[in-house]
Amino acid sequence: MKSFANLVTIFLLQSLSLPLYSSCLHQSSSDDSSSPFPSDFLFGTASSAYQYEGAYLTDGKGLNNWDVFSHENPGKILDESNGDIAADQYHRFMEDIQLMTYLGVNSYRLSISWSRVLPKGRTGGINYLGIKHYNSLIDALIRNGIKPLVTLNHFDYPQELENRFKSWLSPEMQMEFGYLADICFKHFGDRVKHWFTINEPNQQIILSYIKGIFPPARCSMPYGNCSQGNSETEPFIAAHNMILAHAKAVQIYRTKYQKAQRGIIGIVVQTSWFEPVSDSIVDKKAAERAISFYSNWILDPVVYGKYPEEMVDILGAALPQFSSNEMKNLKKSKSDFLGINHYTSYFIQDCLSSPCNSGEGASRSEGFALKLDRKGNVSIGELTDVSWQHIHPQGFRKMLNYLKDRYPNIPMFITENGYGQLQKPETTVEELMNDTKRIQYMSGYLDALQAAMRDGVNVKGYFAWSLLDNFEWLYGYKLRFGLFHVDYTTLKRTPKQSVSWYKNFIEQHVNTADLIDIY
Ligand code: FCB
Repeated sequence: MKSFANLVTIFLLQSLSLPLYSSCLHQSSSDDSSSPFPSDFLFGTASSAYQYEGAYLTDGKGLNNWDVFSHENPGKILDESNGDIAADQYHRFMEDIQLMTYLGVNSYRLSISWSRVLPKGRTGGINYLGIKHYNSLIDALIRNGIKPLVTLNHFDYPQELENRFKSWLSPEMQMEFGYLADICFKHFGDRVKHWFTINEPNQQIILSYIKGIFPPARCSMPYGNCSQGNSETEPFIAAHNMILAHAKAVQIYRTKYQKAQRGIIGIVVQTSWFEPVSDSIVDKKAAERAISFYSNWILDPVVYGKYPEEMVDILGAALPQFSSNEMKNLKKSKSDFLGINHYTSYFIQDCLSSPCNSGEGASRSEGFALKLDRKGNVSIGELTDVSWQHIHPQGFRKMLNYLKDRYPNIPMFITENGYGQLQKPETTVEELMNDTKRIQYMSGYLDALQAAMRDGVNVKGYFAWSLLDNFEWLYGYKLRFGLFHVDYTTLKRTPKQSVSWYKNFIEQHVNTADLIDIY
């Protein structure tokens, strides 16, 4: 029976002229018909402040690293764009919540723009208009039955912190981040019950301090071409500060807020599955090393208080050490759950004891494990227009099982998974709207997720990246991940085919067995 709220939604969506009926195109075909998703499973979409909000100088927001980087180096972004307007969610969140309601999701992952809340970090005072904005957004989500899951930091931070002490290269950043976390728990924690500290420290550091293609664009030859930096030392210093900043935020939550607010807190890492390119022992070891230099780099310290052995062995003195106090604190502030972002898989070839071509992964800082798309003529999965995205759902299942074995008993959220469609000069709007490739991708990955859950992996939620097309960092607006298309001249949102598909998937897989229909 349809609830009153559902009827209101249908009415609203009719007036927005969204399709009311879901298509069954490529509906997921898992071999077991009973849904492994428990009734409290979170189905949502994910977003981040810089990629969505726009309003880059509105209501007292300060400049952040991405504002400055994109303004000063337009040529580094594929379409020379920036996030000044992005999807303008700052002004359009009520409309976007209607889209979420239509989609049938019960949760939304968003991030806080640090420089909107603290324009100059700890020293410049709180911007209460920023606090008011997030309060309105959080309240509106909850009023519409959508749980807000909040990431404290998703790649953007006040430029002031870069200028003053080189941001993540300084331990000062731990204090700054702790302060941001405290302010957010204090103002939003009565309603936000799921906190993520930092989004993808691993990916952010590789791009910012090894390759130097994200701000603050620091690296050294041959890793990249930057005016300053050191790709063999700085990445590990920055990661160390991020890990300790995460621990600080967790500690603040545990000691000051968690008991009263009754929420949970964790971190988000980027994961890729790495398949040995051959059965040789050295390639198998290289694949292990590749995972250690990528996701375990962050997860081992936040779960066990120490870096993976492979990193200690290869990096030696370049890898900072945790003092015994820090180690104790890390173990005490163990995450309540792991946030897992996952998009792709690679073959891995050993470069430690075998001759190897240069290429991604082959260097010391990346663990001497070369990433390959193919083994001979066979690709790891369907290759796409984007060099890093290969469609290989089996890798997702393997990754989840690997995480279950390495970090037993810690629940996981799939905080991001999705398909990016590159908009080439010849791509038509129809091609963007008929996004069958995205449906095929999501269908495969959601089947793999169900298989992993049947294997015993404890997953609590799945967040599609992304609700809307948005500013995709170095790809600007040319790489579209949205379920809803955004026309960047009018900012109009229009559902792609994948909206019907995901809506239908959720309807079919939400386990209603123990839900009570009160109407
Ligand atoms: C992830 C980022 C997210 C988005 C997706 C495509 O690494 O966390 O902001 O860019 O990739």
